Amino acid sequence: MLDIAFAKPALPKAGAVVLPLFEGEAPAGQAAALDAAAGGALTRALDAAAFKGRKGQSVTLYAPVAGLTRVVVTGMGQRDGFKAEEAGGALVPHLSNEPTATVLAEGLTGQEAAQLAMGALLRSWRFDRYRTTEKPEDKPKLARLVLAGPDSGGAKAAFAALKPVADGVFLARELTSEPPNVLTPAVLAERCLELTRLGVQVEVLGPKEMRRLGFGALLGVAQGSANEARMVVMRWNGAEGAKGGRKGAKPLALVGKGVTFDTGGISIKPAAGMEDMKWDMAGAGAVIGAMAAIAGRKARADVVALVGLVENMPSGTAQRPGDVVKSASGQTIEVINTDAEGRLVLADVIHYAIERFDPAAVVDLATLTGAIIIALGHEHAGLFSNDDALAARLEAAGRATGEAVWRMPMGDAYDKQLKSDIADMKNVSGRPGSSITAAHFIGRFVQGRPWAHLDIAGTAWSSKDTATCPKGATAFGVRLLDRLVAEHHEG
Ligand code: BES
Ligand code: MN
Ligand code: ZN
Repeated sequence: MLDIAFAKPALPKAGAVVLPLFEGEAPAGQAAALDAAAGGALTRALDAAAFKGRKGQSVTLYAPVAGLTRVVVTGMGQRDGFKAEEAGGALVPHLSNEPTATVLAEGLTGQEAAQLAMGALLRSWRFDRYRTTEKPEDKPKLARLVLAGPDSGGAKAAFAALKPVADGVFLARELTSEPPNVLTPAVLAERCLELTRLGVQVEVLGPKEMRRLGFGALLGVAQGSANEARMVVMRWNGAEGAKGGRKGAKPLALVGKGVTFDTGGISIKPAAGMEDMKWDMAGAGAVIGAMAAIAGRKARADVVALVGLVENMPSGTAQRPGDVVKSASGQTIEVINTDAEGRLVLADVIHYAIERFDPAAVVDLATLTGAIIIALGHEHAGLFSNDDALAARLEAAGRATGEAVWRMPMGDAYDKQLKSDIADMKNVSGRPGSSITAAHFIGRFVQGRPWAHLDIAGTAWSSKDTATCPKGATAFGVRLLDRLVAEHHEG
């Protein structure tokens, strides 16, 4: 993992130097000293390249002075509305051949330097556990990034608060990237136990315990797979006893869909692109990552996180379209389509979370419907809620973290479409508005609690690199949930 350090302004003697410049800005301070040492090569190069400091512009000088391997000057755009984290992420591709780089951050506040470091850290993450033949020269080398700026103390302190959040993001990305033959429900549950190191209490329930709890909906999904189901309950009691903590306040409950692979079951999916369904545990991954972030930074809040872990497979023991299952809430469900399995899993886990923890609010995350991708593309997660205040909090957290959500409508006319001829409800209606009817299905298990559902099917993974995330698992939701806790559940 990229090692981050903060130092007072000084030119390094070795490695790469990064010089961020805003529009219209000329090299000053250490950068001017570097230019002088290079006999004016820096300013000449910027002139020759017509460098204006615009976002995305960059000029690289190789070995302009002895010892330094390269100097990368990057445009930061306008000072106004500067996004330090994105800028930090954008540096990383320039530095892939440099083991160490020093950013001359003299023009940045401590907070901005920390955010820039965070962006670089997030972007430099890579999942290479299964690459065995990659040549060393093809591997990214960047191992250490030093930010040299006036408020190195402030930057260091600000970064200390961000680092656990990056760790949570990395955990979620890693879990979500693991292939489905490796990451079975049991293995994912095992990975949750690692959070005990951060002070999280972790319990794992297997099929026997869940049968006793009446989890007919979740277990119906799991019954076609040779890999047993699990539910994991994670508790962070950060408010209790903490100074300023809201002792005795009801916890926030986070619930994640953890379908480690979704074939669709007997209502099987088409072959093309089915490999994408390894991402179908991304909701659980985000919730687990959020718990790691919350516990890692010792949030003064009580948060419980529950994930329902199953594999949805077709087999001789798989559930059939037409089966009726009894959920933990007692409500019966006619399973019209075995590919609408996420809601079946969530129904039991959410019911259990409410019964056991009496939470102030429930937020669930799930790669629930392809239809949300049609509605919102990959730019927003769908937000569904029965509570305007909670929805507004999530919208604000989304704006603050860049994990954008868009509130979708709900209403009785949608809910009615779940009427079954033989059971309390069916698990699908028609195609129209099917992300909304899916949300209504879940809403039948929340007992009127403040509840929000985030459909992250379009945002859980990305087919292209972004400023702060290489293509693949995005960990969408980790930062959003962490922010929700920080803003509204801490004393
Ligand atoms: N996991 C899928 C949803 C999904 C689709 C996520 C594409 C990411 C990309 C979910 O279990 C599912 O299969 N949903 C069905 C629901 C339908 C049967 C009502 C869908 O979206 O087609
Ligand atoms: Mn499905
Ligand atoms: Zn699914």
